[in-house]
Amino acid sequence: MTSTMPNMPANAPPDARGALTLADGEPIIEVRDLCKRYGSHVIHEHLDLTVSRGDIVALVGGSGSGKTTLVRQIMGLEDPSSGHIRIFGHDITMIDRRTAHLLRRRSGMLFQRGALFSALSVFDNIAQPLRELHTLSEDLIRDVVMYKLEMVGLSCRHASRLPSELSGGMVKRVGIARAIALEPELLFLDEPTAGLDPEASDEFVAMVRGLHRSLGLTVVMVTHDLDTMVMLSTSVAVLADRKVLVNAPVEDVVRVDHPFIRAYFLGERGRRSLQALPAARRAKVSELLEDGK
Ligand SMILES: Nc1ncnc2c1ncn2[C@@H]1O[C@H](COP(=O)(O)OP(=O)(O)OP(=O)(O)O)[C@@H](O)[C@H]1O
Ligand SMILES: [Mg+2]
Repeated sequence: MTSTMPNMPANAPPDARGALTLADGEPIIEVRDLCKRYGSHVIHEHLDLTVSRGDIVALVGGSGSGKTTLVRQIMGLEDPSSGHIRIFGHDITMIDRRTAHLLRRRSGMLFQRGALFSALSVFDNIAQPLRELHTLSEDLIRDVVMYKLEMVGLSCRHASRLPSELSGGMVKRVGIARAIALEPELLFLDEPTAGLDPEASDEFVAMVRGLHRSLGLTVVMVTHDLDTMVMLSTSVAVLADRKVLVNAPVEDVVRVDHPFIRAYFLGERGRRSLQALPAARRAKVSELLEDGK
């Protein structure tokens, strides 16, 4: 099935395929000296961020710190005020619309709000990005939709349901199925576990981990959920003071002396979540975890 998938066709134009030659670990997203203002309100100032192929980066920061705005700029849905954003090796502030469109197809997004069209069935929600290509037969679309449903742990009997007939966890899964419909290399998740109970969150984390492995995804995930962040991320990018303060594995992040980091990671909830780190990584922060006891 994968060879017949719409994304990355063998005859795709070379400009949008250049990054395919990038090896594992090479930068997929490079944000340099980004500034973003709404009127006189400065959201980002001299912000830098690098995300490499295969990373699962958790983007954390206070409410209103500009996490969603940053993701929207990286996805090309919002223009920076100044600075550069390279994605798959292309500076998205310098490319033509067609290349931008092709690059956008290489990313999938689970939005913070309004993940699904409420009037459309699960099937039609997932089929929507495939139909927009105008190149696939309905037979192929049906196969792809069913395959994606299976990948996110749902069965074909969910296909005819409306979003209002699903649990919160299922809605998120369908959102992911739609986000990966075009087999993206890069997946953005904005608060993917918000509103889920701990069990549904854990199942969701396991699913994303499985997709990351099987699809070779790079993931950028905005989250307030410390447990999800500790379990899933390969690095944590902290957005504070209008920039990315640090982007490193969580055990290195928590050792940075900054009021937001102390409050966020080393409060009671933060310490509890950090206990879930594998022993070797937890050992690096054992002193900090002991301190608060
Ligand atoms: N289109 C817009 N016009 C004006 N201001 C905006 C716009 N979009 C976002 N903002 C402002 O930019 C700031 C950052 O918003 P953003 O949604 O990126 O925050 P966030 O970190 O995602 O917050 P949350 O954790 O609550 O989702 C906020 O002060 C918001 O009001
Ligand atoms: Mg947000």
